[in-house]
Amino acid sequence: MPELAYLNGEILPIEKACIPIEDRGYQFGDAVYEFIASYNEKLFCLEQHLDRLERSMQGLSLPKIPREDIRAAVMTLFEKAGIARAGIYMQISRGVSPRNHPFPESAKPQFVMTIRPVEEKPPELRLTGSTAITVEDYRWGRCDLKTVQLLPNVLAKQKAQEAEAFDAIFVSPEGVVREGTSSNVFVVAGGRLMTHPLTPQILPGITRAVVIELGRSIDLPVEERFFNVDDLLSAEEAFFTGTVTEVLPIVTVDRKHIGEGRVGSITSCLYDALRQQAGA
Ligand code: PDD
Repeated sequence: MPELAYLNGEILPIEKACIPIEDRGYQFGDAVYEFIASYNEKLFCLEQHLDRLERSMQGLSLPKIPREDIRAAVMTLFEKAGIARAGIYMQISRGVSPRNHPFPESAKPQFVMTIRPVEEKPPELRLTGSTAITVEDYRWGRCDLKTVQLLPNVLAKQKAQEAEAFDAIFVSPEGVVREGTSSNVFVVAGGRLMTHPLTPQILPGITRAVVIELGRSIDLPVEERFFNVDDLLSAEEAFFTGTVTEVLPIVTVDRKHIGEGRVGSITSCLYDALRQQAGA
Protein backbone atom coordinates (compact mmCIF):
# COMPACT_ATOMS: atom_id res chain seq x y z
CA MET A 1 0.00 0.00 0.00
CA PRO A 2 2.38 2.73 -1.11
CA GLU A 3 1.65 6.30 -0.16
CA LEU A 4 2.29 8.21 -3.35
CA ALA A 5 2.42 11.69 -4.78
CA TYR A 6 1.46 12.96 -8.20
CA LEU A 7 3.41 15.93 -9.50
CA ASN A 8 2.34 17.35 -12.86
CA GLY A 9 2.01 13.96 -14.50
CA GLU A 10 4.69 12.08 -12.60
CA ILE A 11 3.99 9.58 -9.80
CA LEU A 12 6.63 9.33 -7.08
CA PRO A 13 7.10 8.76 -3.33
CA ILE A 14 5.59 11.62 -1.31
CA GLU A 15 8.89 12.65 0.25
CA LYS A 16 10.46 13.02 -3.20
CA ALA A 17 7.71 15.32 -4.55
CA CYS A 18 8.75 18.97 -4.35
CA ILE A 19 7.50 22.17 -5.91
CA PRO A 20 9.46 25.40 -6.38
CA ILE A 21 9.30 27.99 -3.60
CA GLU A 22 7.80 30.53 -6.01
CA ASP A 23 4.65 28.49 -6.48
CA ARG A 24 1.74 30.94 -6.07
CA GLY A 25 -0.13 28.48 -3.89
CA TYR A 26 2.74 28.72 -1.42
CA GLN A 27 3.20 32.50 -1.63
CA PHE A 28 -0.36 33.77 -2.10
CA GLY A 29 -2.66 30.86 -1.30
CA ASP A 30 -3.48 31.13 -5.01
CA ALA A 31 -4.65 27.52 -5.37
CA VAL A 32 -7.70 25.30 -5.01
CA TYR A 33 -8.00 21.80 -3.60
CA GLU A 34 -10.22 18.77 -3.16
CA PHE A 35 -10.19 15.80 -0.84
CA ILE A 36 -11.76 12.57 -2.08
CA ALA A 37 -12.07 9.28 -0.22
CA SER A 38 -12.58 5.72 -1.37
CA TYR A 39 -14.46 2.87 0.25
CA ASN A 40 -13.59 -0.69 -0.75
CA GLU A 41 -11.55 0.35 -3.76
CA LYS A 42 -14.16 2.73 -5.13
CA LEU A 43 -13.91 6.53 -5.05
CA PHE A 44 -17.01 8.04 -3.49
CA CYS A 45 -18.70 10.91 -5.38
CA LEU A 46 -15.74 11.44 -7.71
CA GLU A 47 -17.82 13.35 -10.29
CA GLN A 48 -19.28 15.69 -7.64
CA HIS A 49 -15.75 16.47 -6.41
CA LEU A 50 -14.64 17.15 -9.99
CA ASP A 51 -17.65 19.46 -10.46
CA ARG A 52 -16.71 21.43 -7.36
CA LEU A 53 -13.06 21.56 -8.38
CA GLU A 54 -14.10 23.05 -11.72
CA ARG A 55 -16.26 25.63 -9.95
CA SER A 56 -13.42 26.56 -7.59
CA MET A 57 -11.02 26.91 -10.52
CA GLN A 58 -13.49 29.11 -12.39
CA GLY A 59 -13.99 31.18 -9.23
CA LEU A 60 -10.26 32.01 -9.17
CA SER A 61 -10.06 32.35 -12.99
CA LEU A 62 -7.46 29.58 -13.09
CA PRO A 63 -6.62 28.27 -16.57
CA LYS A 64 -8.92 25.40 -17.49
CA ILE A 65 -7.58 21.85 -17.30
CA PRO A 66 -9.75 19.33 -19.18
CA ARG A 67 -11.90 17.37 -16.75
CA GLU A 68 -10.95 14.08 -18.47
CA ASP A 69 -7.27 14.81 -17.81
CA ILE A 70 -7.92 15.46 -14.13
CA ARG A 71 -10.06 12.36 -13.81
CA ALA A 72 -7.48 10.23 -15.63
CA ALA A 73 -4.71 11.50 -13.33
CA VAL A 74 -6.79 10.73 -10.22
CA MET A 75 -7.60 7.23 -11.46
CA THR A 76 -4.00 6.48 -12.41
CA LEU A 77 -2.77 7.49 -8.96
CA PHE A 78 -5.59 5.61 -7.23
CA GLU A 79 -4.97 2.41 -9.19
CA LYS A 80 -1.22 2.61 -8.77
CA ALA A 81 -1.45 3.02 -4.98
CA GLY A 82 -3.97 0.18 -4.59
CA ILE A 83 -5.27 1.49 -1.26
CA ALA A 84 -8.84 0.28 -0.69
CA ARG A 85 -9.74 3.04 1.80
CA ALA A 86 -7.75 5.93 0.43
CA GLY A 87 -7.79 9.68 0.87
CA ILE A 88 -6.69 11.65 -2.17
CA TYR A 89 -5.67 15.26 -1.62
CA MET A 90 -5.44 17.25 -4.85
CA GLN A 91 -4.29 20.82 -5.29
CA ILE A 92 -4.03 23.03 -8.36
CA SER A 93 -2.16 26.31 -8.10
CA ARG A 94 -1.87 29.11 -10.64
CA GLY A 95 1.74 28.16 -11.17
CA VAL A 96 5.31 29.21 -10.48
CA SER A 97 6.43 32.77 -11.15
CA PRO A 98 8.51 35.51 -9.48
CA ARG A 99 6.38 36.95 -6.67
CA ASN A 100 4.05 39.62 -8.06
CA HIS A 101 0.35 40.04 -7.33
CA PRO A 102 -1.21 40.11 -10.84
CA PHE A 103 -1.75 36.81 -12.62
CA PRO A 104 1.48 35.82 -14.40
CA GLU A 105 1.14 35.67 -18.16
CA SER A 106 2.95 32.44 -18.79
CA ALA A 107 2.80 30.38 -15.60
CA LYS A 108 1.52 26.81 -15.93
CA PRO A 109 -0.84 25.49 -13.24
CA GLN A 110 0.85 23.10 -10.84
CA PHE A 111 -1.27 19.99 -10.28
CA VAL A 112 -0.23 17.91 -7.30
CA MET A 113 -1.86 15.08 -5.35
CA THR A 114 -1.09 12.75 -2.49
CA ILE A 115 -2.73 9.43 -1.71
CA ARG A 116 -2.69 7.76 1.70
CA PRO A 117 -4.94 5.49 3.75
CA VAL A 118 -7.76 7.54 5.27
CA GLU A 119 -7.09 8.55 8.84
CA GLU A 120 -10.39 7.51 10.39
CA LYS A 121 -12.03 9.55 13.15
CA PRO A 122 -11.55 7.93 16.59
CA PRO A 123 -14.27 5.25 17.04
CA GLU A 124 -15.14 6.58 20.53
CA LEU A 125 -16.16 9.90 18.92
CA ARG A 126 -18.71 8.03 16.85
CA LEU A 127 -20.02 6.18 19.91
CA THR A 128 -20.23 9.02 22.41
CA GLY A 129 -20.32 12.02 20.09
CA SER A 130 -18.03 14.98 19.58
CA THR A 131 -17.75 18.33 21.31
CA ALA A 132 -17.47 21.75 19.70
CA ILE A 133 -16.83 25.36 20.52
CA THR A 134 -18.19 28.32 18.58
CA VAL A 135 -15.85 30.91 17.06
CA GLU A 136 -16.53 34.10 15.17
CA ASP A 137 -16.40 33.66 11.41
CA TYR A 138 -13.98 36.21 10.04
CA ARG A 139 -13.13 34.29 6.86
CA TRP A 140 -13.29 35.92 3.44
CA GLY A 141 -16.49 36.27 1.42
CA ARG A 142 -15.98 33.27 -0.92
CA CYS A 143 -15.98 30.27 1.38
CA ASP A 144 -17.92 28.44 -1.34
CA LEU A 145 -14.64 28.10 -3.25
CA LYS A 146 -12.36 25.38 -1.95
CA THR A 147 -9.15 27.39 -1.83
CA VAL A 148 -6.06 26.55 0.19
CA GLN A 149 -6.42 29.77 2.20
CA LEU A 150 -7.34 27.94 5.39
CA LEU A 151 -5.63 29.98 8.10
CA PRO A 152 -8.87 30.89 9.95
CA ASN A 153 -9.84 27.21 9.82
CA VAL A 154 -6.43 26.16 11.15
CA LEU A 155 -6.54 28.70 13.99
CA ALA A 156 -10.11 27.77 14.90
CA LYS A 157 -9.33 24.04 14.93
CA GLN A 158 -6.29 24.70 17.12
CA LYS A 159 -8.43 26.78 19.50
CA ALA A 160 -10.90 23.89 19.69
CA GLN A 161 -8.14 21.43 20.50
CA GLU A 162 -6.77 23.72 23.18
CA ALA A 163 -10.27 23.82 24.66
CA GLU A 164 -10.30 19.99 24.48
CA ALA A 165 -13.10 20.10 21.93
CA PHE A 166 -13.16 18.17 18.68
CA ASP A 167 -13.88 21.12 16.41
CA ALA A 168 -14.91 24.75 16.15
CA ILE A 169 -18.11 25.96 14.52
CA PHE A 170 -17.94 29.24 12.62
CA VAL A 171 -20.70 31.65 13.64
CA SER A 172 -21.41 34.94 11.85
CA PRO A 173 -21.26 38.21 13.81
CA GLU A 174 -25.10 38.08 13.86
CA GLY A 175 -25.05 34.61 15.45
CA VAL A 176 -25.82 32.50 12.36
CA VAL A 177 -24.32 28.99 12.53
CA ARG A 178 -22.27 28.45 9.39
CA GLU A 179 -20.02 25.37 9.33
CA GLY A 180 -17.16 23.56 11.02
CA THR A 181 -13.49 24.04 10.19
CA SER A 182 -13.60 21.17 7.68
CA SER A 183 -17.22 20.07 7.73
CA ASN A 184 -20.80 21.29 7.40
CA VAL A 185 -23.20 21.44 10.35
CA PHE A 186 -26.74 20.04 10.61
CA VAL A 187 -29.29 20.11 13.41
CA VAL A 188 -32.40 18.05 14.01
CA ALA A 189 -35.14 20.23 15.49
CA GLY A 190 -38.85 19.49 15.68
CA GLY A 191 -38.22 16.34 13.65
CA ARG A 192 -36.73 18.35 10.77
CA LEU A 193 -33.22 18.45 9.45
CA MET A 194 -31.75 21.95 9.07
CA THR A 195 -28.50 23.17 7.58
CA HIS A 196 -27.13 26.51 6.35
CA PRO A 197 -28.29 27.28 2.77
CA LEU A 198 -25.76 27.35 -0.06
CA THR A 199 -24.36 30.88 0.00
CA PRO A 200 -20.79 32.17 -0.49
CA GLN A 201 -20.35 31.87 3.30
CA ILE A 202 -20.08 28.06 3.38
CA LEU A 203 -18.53 25.29 1.35
CA PRO A 204 -21.09 23.30 -0.65
CA GLY A 205 -20.09 20.01 0.98
CA ILE A 206 -20.45 16.87 -1.08
CA THR A 207 -21.41 14.91 2.04
CA ARG A 208 -23.90 17.67 2.91
CA ALA A 209 -25.67 17.10 -0.42
CA VAL A 210 -25.68 13.32 0.03
CA VAL A 211 -27.09 13.63 3.57
CA ILE A 212 -29.85 15.98 2.38
CA GLU A 213 -30.86 13.37 -0.20
CA LEU A 214 -30.69 10.56 2.34
CA GLY A 215 -32.81 12.56 4.78
CA ARG A 216 -35.47 13.15 2.13
CA SER A 217 -35.39 9.48 1.15
CA ILE A 218 -36.43 8.53 4.69
CA ASP A 219 -39.18 11.18 4.67
CA LEU A 220 -37.35 13.54 6.96
CA PRO A 221 -38.23 17.14 6.11
CA VAL A 222 -35.03 19.00 5.21
CA GLU A 223 -34.73 22.77 5.35
CA GLU A 224 -31.73 24.65 4.01
CA ARG A 225 -32.18 27.75 6.13
CA PHE A 226 -30.34 30.05 8.50
CA PHE A 227 -30.38 29.13 12.18
CA ASN A 228 -28.55 30.65 15.10
CA VAL A 229 -26.56 29.46 18.10
CA ASP A 230 -29.68 29.33 20.30
CA ASP A 231 -31.35 27.05 17.74
CA LEU A 232 -28.25 24.85 17.79
CA LEU A 233 -28.19 24.68 21.59
CA SER A 234 -31.90 23.88 21.80
CA ALA A 235 -31.81 21.31 18.97
CA GLU A 236 -32.61 17.66 19.57
CA GLU A 237 -29.54 16.49 17.69
CA ALA A 238 -26.63 18.03 15.81
CA PHE A 239 -23.89 16.62 13.63
CA PHE A 240 -20.99 17.47 11.32
CA THR A 241 -20.73 16.15 7.76
CA GLY A 242 -17.61 15.80 5.65
CA THR A 243 -15.67 13.42 3.48
CA VAL A 244 -13.72 11.87 6.35
CA THR A 245 -15.97 13.17 9.11
CA GLU A 246 -18.90 11.35 7.40
CA VAL A 247 -21.81 12.01 9.79
CA LEU A 248 -20.35 12.77 13.21
CA PRO A 249 -22.61 13.52 16.18
CA ILE A 250 -22.09 16.73 18.15
CA VAL A 251 -23.27 16.33 21.73
CA THR A 252 -21.82 19.43 23.39
CA VAL A 253 -21.34 22.98 22.14
CA ASP A 254 -19.53 25.53 24.31
CA ARG A 255 -19.87 23.00 27.18
CA LYS A 256 -23.66 22.91 26.88
CA HIS A 257 -25.44 19.68 25.98
CA ILE A 258 -27.37 19.31 22.73
CA GLY A 259 -30.57 17.42 23.56
CA GLU A 260 -29.67 14.85 26.18
CA GLY A 261 -25.99 15.08 25.39
CA ARG A 262 -26.07 11.69 23.68
CA VAL A 263 -25.82 10.49 20.11
CA GLY A 264 -29.26 10.89 18.53
CA SER A 265 -31.16 8.24 16.60
CA ILE A 266 -31.57 10.33 13.42
CA THR A 267 -27.83 11.06 13.39
CA SER A 268 -27.06 7.33 13.73
CA CYS A 269 -29.55 6.46 11.02
CA LEU A 270 -28.02 8.97 8.60
CA TYR A 271 -24.50 7.74 9.41
CA ASP A 272 -25.51 4.16 8.60
CA ALA A 273 -27.29 5.27 5.42
CA LEU A 274 -24.25 7.26 4.26
CA ARG A 275 -21.89 4.34 4.89
CA GLN A 276 -24.22 2.03 3.02
CA GLN A 277 -24.48 4.39 0.05
CA ALA A 278 -20.68 4.75 0.00
CA GLY A 279 -20.25 0.97 -0.06
CA ALA A 280 -18.41 0.88 3.26
N1 PDD B 1 -12.94 19.70 4.06
N2 PDD B 1 -16.77 22.88 5.02
C1 PDD B 1 -15.44 23.08 4.97
C2 PDD B 1 -14.90 24.41 5.40
C3 PDD B 1 -14.58 22.06 4.53
O1 PDD B 1 -13.26 22.28 4.48
C4 PDD B 1 -15.12 20.81 4.16
C5 PDD B 1 -14.26 19.68 3.65
C6 PDD B 1 -16.52 20.62 4.24
C7 PDD B 1 -17.17 19.32 3.88
O2 PDD B 1 -17.10 19.07 2.50
P1 PDD B 1 -17.14 17.60 1.92
O3 PDD B 1 -18.37 16.96 2.44
O4 PDD B 1 -17.19 17.81 0.46
O5 PDD B 1 -15.91 16.89 2.37
C8 PDD B 1 -17.30 21.69 4.66
C9 PDD B 1 -11.97 18.78 3.54
C10 PDD B 1 -12.30 17.35 3.70
C11 PDD B 1 -10.60 19.15 4.08
O6 PDD B 1 -10.34 20.34 4.22
O7 PDD B 1 -9.80 18.26 4.34
